[in-house]
Amino acid sequence: MRDPGSTVLAGTRLLAPDAAGLSEAAALLREGRLVAFPTETVYGLGGDATDPAAVAAIYAAKARPSFNPLIAHVHDGDAAREQGAFGEEAARLADAFWPGPLTLVVPATARTRVCDLARAGLPSVALRVPDSAPTRALLAAFGRPLAGPSANRSGRVSPTRAAHVLEDLGGRIAAVLDGGDTRIGLESTVVACLGGKARLLRPGGVTRARLSAILGYDPAGPEAGAAEAPVGPGLLASHYAPNARVRLDATRVEDGEALLLFGSYLPENHGQARARLNLSASGDPAEAAARLFGALRELDASGAPTIAVVPIPPDGLGEAIRDRLGRAAAPR
Ligand code: TXA
Ligand code: MG
Repeated sequence: MRDPGSTVLAGTRLLAPDAAGLSEAAALLREGRLVAFPTETVYGLGGDATDPAAVAAIYAAKARPSFNPLIAHVHDGDAAREQGAFGEEAARLADAFWPGPLTLVVPATARTRVCDLARAGLPSVALRVPDSAPTRALLAAFGRPLAGPSANRSGRVSPTRAAHVLEDLGGRIAAVLDGGDTRIGLESTVVACLGGKARLLRPGGVTRARLSAILGYDPAGPEAGAAEAPVGPGLLASHYAPNARVRLDATRVEDGEALLLFGSYLPENHGQARARLNLSASGDPAEAAARLFGALRELDASGAPTIAVVPIPPDGLGEAIRDRLGRAAAPR
């Protein structure tokens, strides 16, 4: 049987989510090394958020423009409150959705230890308590906020399993903590609570409807927020991009194209597709979200120059799915 604790790929160790793997991961992070970690959304590329050298190494490994701020992951709501100022609405959202796929952007305070580089020099800090047992154990053992953008090279498709992380970052980071396939498959919803009404900066794992139910109103954004918000990869037009071109709302397949389906809809000429996958044959947005990034990687591997995507309704997680596909389709 394979012992993941001792598997090494191009210098990057694959760690099992057991006591030995977790203590190894925490030790590496304390040394300022980088360890990718599982969450319920996508894998994160972890480094000590209080250490500018570790944060610089994250930007370098991802080849990420350093003006894009990172999310700091913490063990629980109390640890989050040590890093930022929680007003009444932020507290309510944290109580409702943590641990879970919500990132709160709140004002930084004198006690904030998430370094300037991780915050891209902003007076705010992005905080999240992920819903992953091994990663929460790691955060408790590490005892500091963990900076963690998605563990892919900048601008590429986000990783939903350890093998995806190794494809992009093998040899560039110390280790990957293997937590299997991620449950949600799309990044967290980012909400800014900076005084005034809460604003939706990025749609994600918590739907607009669930946010509205807690807030008592439908938050503006992301369009309304994007102009004022700092530029982040989640907000860049071209992002989450496979090698192939992506063509949205396809009602006909052109020769040589790969086809991404949803539900029972079949575009014209679908028999001509070079490769095809269905995000959810039953039309379930949650199932589709969980499969999205893996499906883009798989269709990309078919070598097709273009991936045609059928129309996907914007309901529920459909908003976040359409957001990611729109970015994958944006001109590069
Ligand atoms: O699900 C997720 O959120 C994953 C997992 C690993 O937790 N992480 C993730 O991180 O997607 P990243 O770096 O790819 O996206 C962070 C988003 C970006 O859109 C960034 O602009 C925004 O959060 N962000 C971070 N700090 C911010 C701040 N101070 N103000 C506004 N937006 C911020
Ligand atoms: Mg990302």
